[in-house]
Amino acid sequence: MNYKDDFPMLKNDIVYFDNGATTLKPKCVIDKMDDYYFNYSSNAHRGDYSLSLKASKEYEDVRTKVRNFINAKRDEEIVFTSGSTDSLNTIVYGYFKYNLNEGDEVLITKSEHASNILPWFELSKEIGINVNYIPLTENHTVTLENVINSITDNTKVISLAHITNVIGDVRPIKEITQYAHNKGILVVIDGSQSVGHTKVDVTDLDIDFLAFSAHKMLGPTGVGVLYGKYDLLNDIKPVRYGGGMNVSFVNIDEIEYKQLPYRLEAGTQNIAGIIGFGQAIDYINRVGIDNIEELCSSLKEYIVLNLKKIPHIKLYNENVEGSIVTFNVDNVFAQDTAIYLDKYNICVRSGSHCAKKLDDELGIKNTCRISIYFYNTKEDADKLITALKNNKILEESLGV
Ligand code: ALA
Repeated sequence: MNYKDDFPMLKNDIVYFDNGATTLKPKCVIDKMDDYYFNYSSNAHRGDYSLSLKASKEYEDVRTKVRNFINAKRDEEIVFTSGSTDSLNTIVYGYFKYNLNEGDEVLITKSEHASNILPWFELSKEIGINVNYIPLTENHTVTLENVINSITDNTKVISLAHITNVIGDVRPIKEITQYAHNKGILVVIDGSQSVGHTKVDVTDLDIDFLAFSAHKMLGPTGVGVLYGKYDLLNDIKPVRYGGGMNVSFVNIDEIEYKQLPYRLEAGTQNIAGIIGFGQAIDYINRVGIDNIEELCSSLKEYIVLNLKKIPHIKLYNENVEGSIVTFNVDNVFAQDTAIYLDKYNICVRSGSHCAKKLDDELGIKNTCRISIYFYNTKEDADKLITALKNNKILEESLGV
């Protein structure tokens, strides 16, 4: 099945392999947002007229869709944010700031995205927690054994990407949460690269907090989700205060805030975006998450198999399960490779990919990244492989 016709961007002659940064949007998602703007544009949870009531209903329906999609126990465990970064910052600054003490330890890895490192660094400066790294294997992956060996009496939190954005390794989350919970350690998961690529069942995986973004799973930019187990989420102190999250305020001593999830959704949310996100979830459900995983995985295998045959290509992550291929062309700066590929309308990302501690592991700062989604085809892969077979990439990129 070819899904390309559903994606207006793919009517242009492009090969889009930057899905780890953001995915394309199917027409149904765009239409759904247009419908809101054209036909019932109004605020949610603030109006007593039918347009606003419709906006509120559509908005809340998406909360239920998200809940079902990740198998959370209650709608109230789903908070809309502006994206994974916002969700992770809320977790760190709304929960852990008040539940960790000086000397407590947070375990992360060097392959985390900036959003799962910098908030912890800042909290460390503020309250004196220690941020330490779980060592990675020679394939840059995390094993349960490495997690177990890293835990100390001071470890209070393990905060990991489910799938990393440069290496694409899939972490053994269920095993990690089981072990961690037996030791009273909480587990925060950055699901940016996993939700929408593989089944993420927060109940089965027993995740304490999960962050993910709509735009990496066919939805619009500016929408994300903060999931937390009810009691933990209920313990978050809002990091934003304002309209929509309070019941009443009289003076500094007489303030009443709303219950979850509204207490954590101050201000007018990205209503159109959230409504569009619901369509994205419906679309993914129609394609089937297992099918998506299988399509991405087989295309990734095909790309790896063929890139391995090209002598001037170095692969950094051929042994991982995620749908990301990270590489460099010998003697060519990663950005020059990306600029060269752009001449053939092939979009890949180059640079450090916001994972700037990973260079300690890879021994190199900049790489090119092919990140696959289910609408990518073998024809896309063949165009990429053909372009990369050229051994004059540097010359062509620089136009010399
Ligand atoms: N986090 C996004 C990426 O990996 C932007 O490209």
